[in-house]
Amino acid sequence: MILLGVNIDHGATLRQARYRDAAGAPGGAVEPDPVLLAERAERAGADGITVHLREDRRHIQDRDVWRLRETMSTKLNLEMACTQAMIVLALKLRPQAVCVVPENRTEVTTEGGLDVAGGAEKIRACVAAMKAAGIEASLFIDPDERQIELSARVGAPVVELHTGAYANAYGTQRRGAEFQRLRLGAVQAHQLGLKVNAGHGINYVNIAEVRTIPHLNELNIGHSILCRALFTGIEEAVREMKARMNS
Ligand code: PXP
Repeated sequence: MILLGVNIDHGATLRQARYRDAAGAPGGAVEPDPVLLAERAERAGADGITVHLREDRRHIQDRDVWRLRETMSTKLNLEMACTQAMIVLALKLRPQAVCVVPENRTEVTTEGGLDVAGGAEKIRACVAAMKAAGIEASLFIDPDERQIELSARVGAPVVELHTGAYANAYGTQRRGAEFQRLRLGAVQAHQLGLKVNAGHGINYVNIAEVRTIPHLNELNIGHSILCRALFTGIEEAVREMKARMNS
């Protein structure tokens, strides 16, 4: 069975659109509450909740991750940049998992995979610190042979393959080639002893093909589930995705 991590960042994006500077709204109604979204997603069968605490705190805030840590019953997966400040925070917070992602202040969302070669020593130290604290670290990388090999070399137990290029190619002639990159990347990672997760741009349509990527352990999906939740509610949106992932 493929596990589902629900990324609730965009729930916080919606809250910040109105309450960015408010310590509390009139009557105390700061909405939507990402923690409540997480609780409902878990109730509907999410296997974990993923949040990205960005350096600029544009959506998820520190208090959100601490409240999630206290209240969640499944796995909290903290996406983080490989910086000293985030490593210190993760070691205090002790989520069950972290996913190391590249971070660029001007991007709307995480756009490319991590350059493991470019930051090998920092990434190795981060992975080792997490391992020592009992936190499972994954590296968010493009399905690229060299990045996968280096991920294993720096000691990461898990990779999350970036499905964004595939999702963008969906409906174009490049789709087959992008899907093949994901398939080959998953096989290579598995052969190197890495757990294979995937995420970014997965939706209710492309999931039919994404789920056939070999050796998949977990998918992290945010935008599409939250969009559907606007119409159906988060619980129905999560149930529907889980059904499509594993039917
Ligand atoms: N995985 C990672 C590492 C991400 O940074 C994100 C969000 O950009 C996702 C998964 C979820 O992507 P989406 O919101 O497109 O489903």
